Amino acid sequence: MKISIVGQSDYLALLLGNSKLLKIRASEPIAPRVNSLPRAGANEPRTVLLLGATGFVGMHVLHELLRRPDVAKVYALVRKKRAASPESRLAVATRSFGLTLEKSDRLEVLDGDFTANDHFGLSDENYARLRGSVDVVLNAAGATNHTFPYAYFRSETIIPLLWMMEFCATERHKSLHFIGSMNGEVFRTMRDFMRIGFYHCGYSRMKWIVKHLAIWAREQGLSASLYLPPHVLGSSLTAFKDPGLRYSFWHMIWYSSQMRKIWEAEDPVPVISADALAREVCDNALSATPRLFAYPSAYISMADLAQTFGWTVVPWKEFRAELKRTFSISFKKWNPKEPFSSLFDMFLHTFFTRSLFTNDLPEIISTITRAAQRSEPAAATELPPSRFIHECARKNYVIGRSVAGELATGQGVTALKELTKERS
Ligand SMILES: NC(=O)c1ccc[n+]([C@@H]2O[C@H](COP(=O)([O-])OP(=O)(O)OC[C@H]3O[C@@H](n4cnc5c(N)ncnc54)[C@H](OP(=O)(O)O)[C@@H]3O)[C@@H](O)[C@H]2O)c1
Repeated sequence: MKISIVGQSDYLALLLGNSKLLKIRASEPIAPRVNSLPRAGANEPRTVLLLGATGFVGMHVLHELLRRPDVAKVYALVRKKRAASPESRLAVATRSFGLTLEKSDRLEVLDGDFTANDHFGLSDENYARLRGSVDVVLNAAGATNHTFPYAYFRSETIIPLLWMMEFCATERHKSLHFIGSMNGEVFRTMRDFMRIGFYHCGYSRMKWIVKHLAIWAREQGLSASLYLPPHVLGSSLTAFKDPGLRYSFWHMIWYSSQMRKIWEAEDPVPVISADALAREVCDNALSATPRLFAYPSAYISMADLAQTFGWTVVPWKEFRAELKRTFSISFKKWNPKEPFSSLFDMFLHTFFTRSLFTNDLPEIISTITRAAQRSEPAAATELPPSRFIHECARKNYVIGRSVAGELATGQGVTALKELTKERS
């Protein structure tokens, strides 16, 4: 069975903002083939293939899988890098976030790479073993870089996704679960597809195509599910450590903390802690009838964010104007003692604030939030968003320092201690 994109129809769909132009071809009808495959019984524990276990989201998913009685076996596909073995890469990745994985003989780490056309880079023996035994494929892998063009993601994510569909329709019935992103929701009107910027980037375009591939797969009879999380933040499992300034959310918090202000907005900001996301993904993936879309999300209003950090809420225009004044290129801010680095900093902040806090940011956030709120109710988080955001900010060296004053007079006792008490 071969599944492919017809010509460059994905580019055409993106160019004209019309998902109907995206054409996918399967070498044979998928539904009859999938329906004839053996599959796990309703109450039988599942065998799971996890991609992206070394990533922040993936390690939380792995932790959740290993804790569950409805999982018989987890294969984690991890690529070898330089001299480091897949097992040691996974151990280093989880250790760097302080996440402890349950010791389990149910986990087998395999050396492979899902972007390799040759059986995901697995040996023939391992590939055959997986093809005949896996029930659930969970993909939490992929680059998250907002500067890469769609062409990069096409070969890194879209084409391998089609191979995964082929894999799921071969030898044994497998459901396919994919971590998308709410970023794909920024494309609503034809005009949105013409935009290029931090939100309207190659990454978001890829997530939009992924969403329509998942819809196509369902229509053809494959059990495909897509999860569209917003900003994924730290959890109690990592003592609220997360990748910090690798995330645009923390950049927003950092810039707001420099002005001790945030803007007024009608709609809340969607966020999710990584453990809540992992729970929602696994609950759906291991259920008897996984749903096509899940928007795992909790919400925090700007007023609550302001209260969490002790900031003032101001109209958007006022916020943006002050931001542009504060972070601009000016001779007065130039430091002759550090001529190059101060100039570089000025350029960087000026460029970054303009692209991150784009003129219509409140509308973009509203579009994303409303798309998520139209779906099933949001995941229940163990802590309210204001609490886990507060704890993650404290934990992050750069953010913690920049909001230190506010946090000191903020909510006081750490949520982690409270949680630990509640659990014991
Ligand atoms: N974090 C968020 O806020 C957020 C929000 C919405 C959606 N998501 C989605 O969630 C997924 C995981 O995100 P994350 O935050 O966990 O990212 P991450 O921490 O950067 O982890 C990325 C994972 O993908 C693997 N990977 C990346 N590029 C690869 C490639 N070319 N070939 C093979 N493996 C590759 C990495 O493996 P190596 O260790 O081998 O590099 C790693 O396991 C992504 O699809 C992302 O779009 C994340």
